[in-house]
Amino acid sequence: LDNGLALKPTMGWLHWERFMCNTDCEADPDNCISERLFMQMADVMVKEGWKEAGYEYVCIDDCWPSKQRDAQGRLQADPKRFPSGIKKLADYVHSKGLKLGIYADLGYQTCGKYPGSLGHHEIDAQTFADWDVDLLKYDGCYLDWTLVGEGYKNMSRALNKTGKSILYSCEWPLYVWPYAKPDYTAIRETCNHWRNYDDVSDSWSSIKSILDWSAKHQDDIVPSAGPGGWNDPDMLVIGNFGLSHAQQESQMALWAIMAAPLIMSNDLRDICPRSKALLQNKRIIAISQDPLGKQGYQTFKENDFAVWERQLSGDRHAIAVMNTQEIGGPRKFLLGVAPGWKLCNPKCNVTLILPKYQELGVVPVQTDLMLPVNPSGTTLLTFTSLNTSQN
Ligand code: GLA
Repeated sequence: LDNGLALKPTMGWLHWERFMCNTDCEADPDNCISERLFMQMADVMVKEGWKEAGYEYVCIDDCWPSKQRDAQGRLQADPKRFPSGIKKLADYVHSKGLKLGIYADLGYQTCGKYPGSLGHHEIDAQTFADWDVDLLKYDGCYLDWTLVGEGYKNMSRALNKTGKSILYSCEWPLYVWPYAKPDYTAIRETCNHWRNYDDVSDSWSSIKSILDWSAKHQDDIVPSAGPGGWNDPDMLVIGNFGLSHAQQESQMALWAIMAAPLIMSNDLRDICPRSKALLQNKRIIAISQDPLGKQGYQTFKENDFAVWERQLSGDRHAIAVMNTQEIGGPRKFLLGVAPGWKLCNPKCNVTLILPKYQELGVVPVQTDLMLPVNPSGTTLLTFTSLNTSQN
């Protein structure tokens, strides 16, 4: 969407995967969906280096509103859980130098059965603009799939009409794929990013199925990504309970290769230092945020290894090698067999980023680089081509 936003994949935090529809603030005050939760996340994002690393949007997902619209037909936040209201929360988040995201749905109710925006999209867009909200995640539950495209376009126009810059996060193709091939040209013109596939959960099988889907459909989805519009494989679940550290490295590396939004769903108030360092790794974030804005793709899958490649600005490439054998220890991958290796003709400068940072120096094309890759982990590197004139 050409609204000047999301020129690089969006970075931030979203409550859904970790906190879901927890509305019981009496029994679980620290983890219920309330203004306090978002204020605390905003505080931590500033204090603990998240903002400095590039994470900017603090996003509310489903289950924030009251079940009733107000007398003017406007959405209103649940008065018990958001006593100060969304405008005050936006002011607070802005005072920290961060941005606020909110959630709505184009159908007659949201996926969590809160009021939907069907028949109300203009007033809802205006309400979000009046509240100074910076991002809208617009879901597609509870509407016939044939009407979903029009619903997404209508809200895009309504947001534009408010005159306020609001980043527009869609799930349009996710709701169309079961019936038809989505129109990615229209989707890119309408949205700043779009979910294609199932909700992520806190498990390696979920991450694997997202990666498998993305590789299988890469010819359909990769060409539509670029500054202003991105494929969204859903939230980063790094720092939760379900992934080993090697698997967390795989999610981080592959989301960067896929030019995916880096939207975490975890508890930043309580996260282990290794996960935090991984999420804040500036070399991986630089791959994600590369100004060329080209999404990477899978180039090789054999012998229980998968190789993904992303072209970067300045004659550079990122390569991720995943070891998909889930038994045994680290296995060596001979980089000479990876298609990306032809880039190093005659030479390139190689930097190892995962599993640990190391400058591997100038390597000529003939060199058989043997790289250890952890089981269900990923070895991530960048290559800078050195053509003969530069030597
Ligand atoms: C859908 C979306 C999720 C989340 C939930 C909320 O399942 O895909 O990301 O927003 O709805 O109910």
